[in-house]
Amino acid sequence: MTITTCVFDAYGTLFDVNAAARAVAAEPGQEAFAAVWQEVSTHWRAKQLQYTWIRALTGQHTDFWQVTQDGLDWALAKTGQSDPDLRDRLLGLYFNLAAFPEVPAMLAALKAAGMNTAILSNGSPPMLKGAVDSAGVGDVLDDILSVETVGIFKPDASVYKLVTDRFGCDKDEVLFVSSNGWDAASARAFGFRVLWVNRAGEPLDRLPEPPDRIASDLTTVPQIAEAL
Ligand code: LAC
Repeated sequence: MTITTCVFDAYGTLFDVNAAARAVAAEPGQEAFAAVWQEVSTHWRAKQLQYTWIRALTGQHTDFWQVTQDGLDWALAKTGQSDPDLRDRLLGLYFNLAAFPEVPAMLAALKAAGMNTAILSNGSPPMLKGAVDSAGVGDVLDDILSVETVGIFKPDASVYKLVTDRFGCDKDEVLFVSSNGWDAASARAFGFRVLWVNRAGEPLDRLPEPPDRIASDLTTVPQIAEAL
């Protein structure tokens, strides 16, 4: 079926989850942090996601801002960082996380082609608004869908169902775009068409549902949506 609706994961897909730690590492006086920023950022993301999965499986939901703080605290402890100002600076930047450079033009092209556009994210509504506003893409998104509506994190199927409920569309009219292999596989299992954005040249996840398409960034999303 023709794609009518393009839906994007937020963190790692539209917004660069390494941008906060990278920016702090480049600030004057942050030489010690500059030596470990990549390790901190990798642990931060890994723990943040693990905590979402555990909380979903054990029925202990909290919002993504809380697990973002919990993941950072683990990463800072792991790497021996204890400066509270560093923690505040990293969280402040994460709240207004930078978008990848191709995002505004790509979303504008989808809207010009008549597509529905939305974010579907674990992010809490205030976090998502912060990132969308700092990227200046609020006017090329029809909606920002958060798991907070259903109170459980991805990959619970009720999260993906928010899209078909919102747009009144069939699953196979939706192109779901994610850089997270587990999210891409789960959305494909739900019934969406899926584009996996593989910026880092990672191997394909060994999960049951491979993506329909793979791209190295977001620039070709309008062409892929048109061709599917
Ligand atoms: C999100 C996480 C998975 O935005 O990155 O939902």
